[in-house]
Amino acid sequence: MEQLNELRDDLKRTRHCGELRADDIGDAVVLNGWVNRRRDHGGLIFVDLRDRSGLVQVVFDPQVSAEAHQLAHQLRSEFVIAVRGTVARRPEGTENPDLPTGEVEVRCAELAILNVAETPPFSWLDETEVDEKVRLEYRYIDLRNPRMQRNLRIRHEAARATREFLSDEGFLEIETPLLFRPTPEGARDYLVPSRVNPGNFYALPQSPQILKQLLMISGCERYFQIARCLRDEDLRADRQPEFTQIDIEMSFITREDIFDLTERLYAAIFAACGHELPYPWPRMTCAEAVERFGTDKPDTRFGLELVDITEVVREAEFKVFASVAASGGVVKGLCAPGCADIGRAQMDRLTEFVQEHKAKGLAWFQVTDDGLEGPIAKFFSADELAAITEAFGAQVGDMLMIVADEPETAHEALDWLRREMGERLGLIDESAWAPLWVYDFPLVTWNEDEKRWDAEHHPFCMPHEDDWELLESDPGKVRALSYDVVLNGYEVASGSIRIHRRDIQEKVFKVLGITREEAQRRFGFFLKAFEYGAPPHGGIAPGFDRIVMLLCGEPNIREVIAFPKTQKAQDVMAGAPAPADPKQLRELHIRLDLPPQVDDEAPV
Ligand code: AMO
Ligand code: AMP
Repeated sequence: MEQLNELRDDLKRTRHCGELRADDIGDAVVLNGWVNRRRDHGGLIFVDLRDRSGLVQVVFDPQVSAEAHQLAHQLRSEFVIAVRGTVARRPEGTENPDLPTGEVEVRCAELAILNVAETPPFSWLDETEVDEKVRLEYRYIDLRNPRMQRNLRIRHEAARATREFLSDEGFLEIETPLLFRPTPEGARDYLVPSRVNPGNFYALPQSPQILKQLLMISGCERYFQIARCLRDEDLRADRQPEFTQIDIEMSFITREDIFDLTERLYAAIFAACGHELPYPWPRMTCAEAVERFGTDKPDTRFGLELVDITEVVREAEFKVFASVAASGGVVKGLCAPGCADIGRAQMDRLTEFVQEHKAKGLAWFQVTDDGLEGPIAKFFSADELAAITEAFGAQVGDMLMIVADEPETAHEALDWLRREMGERLGLIDESAWAPLWVYDFPLVTWNEDEKRWDAEHHPFCMPHEDDWELLESDPGKVRALSYDVVLNGYEVASGSIRIHRRDIQEKVFKVLGITREEAQRRFGFFLKAFEYGAPPHGGIAPGFDRIVMLLCGEPNIREVIAFPKTQKAQDVMAGAPAPADPKQLRELHIRLDLPPQVDDEAPV
């Protein structure tokens, strides 16, 4: 087979496949790319030629070039070729309206095969679902999929818009080290052993949090970085062990300045990718979000808000409700419109569903012409039933679904149920964008296992001035000057105003049970910096992968990361992590003490 060792100058592309249109008819072109698909139609051979810009049909006609036609018989999927030819109008009736280049084809006068290819392990041309593990093992092929190419392009546009917007706003992009010390985001650290300092380890940063605050103390005033963060935590669809934040920090600002900047940043990113976000964004305290939606990251594209009937049922004969109400729990639920007839089997399945999410059960009432009906209706007085109906604003034909439990459990289960019902009932407008500020998170949360207060965000968040008094007496009630951006039910940014005075920081450490010695050991260098003129400052860190995931309409951040890890934090293409060479381990003074082999075949 004739093959070129090097791309000849006269075979370098003059145009891209996907850009050819009727205007180009008659033009001589050279195209370079991959054979997407070859079809043999007796006398003619058709090849869909693909490059990054898209596809165009190339026709090999022995009348045009017998030699090219002959060679085209050898073409297979993913062969790399150069084609010289002329853009022509497709014969009438053979246009392809689904393809941007569908009005034209390129009649080939010269073909060169630049490289052959093995039959790929999968093709994205047939619509069948390819096992994700195989896709990740052959990621370089997977990324040829036009959908993945589109995702990479959107990611690039989002990054470019970020850089342009923040640069125009006077921010400096500053890189911070990856080999660093433990940072305080609350996940496990990835450790890197130091060869030249035996027995010592760097920790890869879970975020540049401490470093960006130090940059404020350095007088940088406005910092950003499209920063890689590394966290050894359990993975899910919207979590990767290494991910990217648009890390931002500003000095001499208030929370309002950060809200304003962030809304405009998101607007710029979304506009660059062809989307418009509503403006200004609604705001909700964390407490209100949990009260109304059961979660601090509500999907506000639809209603189905939770209703609290604890007071209404406090005295009811139905023991499940009354006892939960008496023991400080809540009785809450939602009204599923038009669902009165969904039937007992469905309700049993929904009961199992909420039980999978830790609720003890699901109580329900059908709203009928005769009032509330259902297996537990007999335990309530007529007045109570009327009050329940009114509380839910229920209409005939609706179904009330109710969980009684301690607040955290009830809210979590109802959040799941609300999203499930929202989806089932088609209440979610997939084309809508619903950004939301959730703010005033608690400063600390009680860690029942360790019997201590943990920072809800990280230990450097400024407590709310109004809650100052409570720091010692009732820390759980103290609000932080912290905030999240929630978009369509995803937490897509998180930030806070920081503590900039050492005395306040020490008070917060005390609440967290961090002793002076421990604070000194973990953050001594950082606390010292606060003694040299720390300006008031604050910041935010949008989760870049999640934003791009939403912009791409993908259900999973792995689809918008070129080389992601599996659920087990593995790179199945390169085979990472992998055992280290014994010589390397010796140099690092590391001796392994391994537990028995673990199963490698867990799902992706
Ligand atoms: P936080 O830990 O909330 O805050 O992270 C900020 C945002 O980063 C995204 N994110 C993730 N995305 C993918 N995979 C992960 N494992 C992952 N973890 C977090 C989320 C989240 O909202 N230093 C603080 C920010 C600050 O206070 O300025 C921080 O890292 O979208
Ligand atoms: P039981 O008396 O346990 O048979 O429960 C009667 C009904 O109440 C069943 O439909 C249960 O699913 C429901 N139920 C039980 N516990 C709870 C709870 N904590 N919250 C809401 N419904 C419950």
